[in-house]
Amino acid sequence: MNLEYKRVMIKLSGEALAGPQGFGIDPPTVSRICESIKKVFDRGIEVAIVVGGGNFWRGRLGEGMDKSTADYMGMLATVINALSLQDSLEHIGVPVRVQTAIEMKEIAEPYIKRKAVRHLEKKRVVIFAAGTGNPFFTTDTTASLRAAEIDADIILLAKNVDAVYDKDPAVHDDAKKYTHLCYLDVIDKGLKVMDSTAITLCMDNDIKILVFGLDNPDNILRAAMGEHIGTIIEGE
Ligand code: GTP
Repeated sequence: MNLEYKRVMIKLSGEALAGPQGFGIDPPTVSRICESIKKVFDRGIEVAIVVGGGNFWRGRLGEGMDKSTADYMGMLATVINALSLQDSLEHIGVPVRVQTAIEMKEIAEPYIKRKAVRHLEKKRVVIFAAGTGNPFFTTDTTASLRAAEIDADIILLAKNVDAVYDKDPAVHDDAKKYTHLCYLDVIDKGLKVMDSTAITLCMDNDIKILVFGLDNPDNILRAAMGEHIGTIIEGE
């Protein structure tokens, strides 16, 4: 089979794991997402995952708190989510390695780029947890950074909307949907796709981003197979 992508970075938001109640982890929702990731894996595509932590905590919620502390709390939330994904994927027979950017060896391997690449080559899904390990960075930036490090072909950015719009389509009926954007458009138009650090990192390293909706979990497979759903963001 001719695959469009050999190695993909899937970025999931923490909320994607929360299900209808909008908080914490909803095991049936996690299972549905993992079933779709398994389909990608079964096609022979190498899969890396970065997951957010917003279903438990967001750094920006820590008003009045020390910013670094609030961000570290968010990083810990991503570890919970990574373990939940690992458990669910292993249940359906997908080999997984979790690597954390902050050492917590009793729980998971520390992040070692060469080991991560080796795991991918050996057909294991690798989940990168604890963000970049640094405060003041988002998990979108983590996805960009890790994608650059492991030389992923594309970032598949799963969202709760089906594409990038010029304004919030939930609020504005006339919101215009973009099918294609270049990195600079995203920055110049102030589009809320990824934060500017993340998008700049993608631009500097020429990493394509496909933004798509997770309303149907099978969109992960469609996106990974190179189908042009949602919005593609690239250099030109
Ligand atoms: P190979 O080197 O290709 O054999 O990879 P491997 O991951 O199977 O081998 P390794 O012996 O490194 O790891 C075996 C298991 O231990 C895997 O599930 C790893 O995720 C886990 N593991 C490895 N290092 C650590 C660590 O520092 N902490 C924790 N908690 N688990 C680890």
